[in-house]
Amino acid sequence: MGEAFEVARSRDAHCVMQTYARKPVMFVRGRGMRLSDDEGTEYLDFVSGIGSVNLGHAHPAVTAAISEQAAKLVHVSNLFYVEHRAELACDVVRLLGGGMRVFFANSGAEANEGAIKLARKWATQAKPGAHTVVTALESFHGRTLATLAATGQPGKQEAFAPLPAGFKHVPLNDVAALDAAVDDSVAAVLLEVVQGEGGVWPASAEYLSAAERICRERGALLMIDEVQTGFFRTGPAFAHQAFGISPDVVTLAKAMANGLPVGALVAREEVATAFVPGDHGSTFGGGPVVCAAGRATIAALEAEELGENAARVGAYLQTGLRAIADETGAIVDVRGAGLMVGCSLGDPIAAEVAASMLERGCVVNHIGANILRFLPPLVCGTAEIDTLLATLSAVLERASA
Ligand SMILES: Cc1ncc(COP(=O)(O)O)c(C=O)c1O
Repeated sequence: MGEAFEVARSRDAHCVMQTYARKPVMFVRGRGMRLSDDEGTEYLDFVSGIGSVNLGHAHPAVTAAISEQAAKLVHVSNLFYVEHRAELACDVVRLLGGGMRVFFANSGAEANEGAIKLARKWATQAKPGAHTVVTALESFHGRTLATLAATGQPGKQEAFAPLPAGFKHVPLNDVAALDAAVDDSVAAVLLEVVQGEGGVWPASAEYLSAAERICRERGALLMIDEVQTGFFRTGPAFAHQAFGISPDVVTLAKAMANGLPVGALVAREEVATAFVPGDHGSTFGGGPVVCAAGRATIAALEAEELGENAARVGAYLQTGLRAIADETGAIVDVRGAGLMVGCSLGDPIAAEVAASMLERGCVVNHIGANILRFLPPLVCGTAEIDTLLATLSAVLERASA
């Protein structure tokens, strides 16, 4: 590693809170699928900033939108109208099929925090006495106190007790457990279509339609967290659209502005109007720079038909991983949707495998000891997948030698 990397690592160790075990590399440049480190070494990126840079790095349309708006006006707050905010909201509502309204936040956690508040406020009129939000075990909804309480991973919660009350967790894909959990106290059910941070675990079609039916029958809101699955990551604009369900609330972030920090809470008109002036807010949310970037991002995702590409190349990736599973036995399960793909390894070597892949120029992510996750930019082609598969195959072979 270069001198610039060593300086950054040492300063980080002294001055930055150590909440991440960072990988030993400093990226300084990116273009499409490619990243370069401080010494000019090139890598293929199969993480895309944790599923955020769906158009690939330094997309010219997004760069132009950011630069033009930054030169004009950066921030005045939500006290005023600005260019691009309402237009981006209209784009998002159009992609969701209409009849919804948007609140702009700055992250996925904030979008979900807003959804929890909205469900509680909505219930004061629509389902008095209900305030509980039901979520799935192994889910991930954010790191603020309420979204951590929503997150179905006790290990992430324990040190931060007491967490806000009003959350119940049920096993994913267990219709009977959901049916039993949604009672008069429940204002909303909050689900990911494919659990991302929990390990790339897809919800079944049967489970998602049962969740919709149960919510309708009991007068609870169906809220879908599309923070990681949104913006064509799994093929359709939003992952739930492949299942024909109509959520009352959808939360978004990550890829919405191709890597700039943004989040959004989107709700059906009748639910959205539960919020009135003063109920919720954000200093930075919906600023003109991120919204200009968001509009350019959505336009390019659609024009370049990257949803279709994600579905096609994602299927190719899963087929290739299954072939490695058959050949080596090192992979025991392959799953996902579009270009959100995970595989479980038979041995707890995921961190070592990811480290070896990085040394060989492939940036991949591991979750826990056994799971590898692949979230490349949606511009990824089969040639890059071939490189990934060949590298992974070599690394796994070496690990088992
Ligand atoms: C499904 C889901 N919801 C919420 C979040 C939290 O988003 P953020 O890190 O932007 O707060 C994440 C982050 O990975 C996520 O995957």
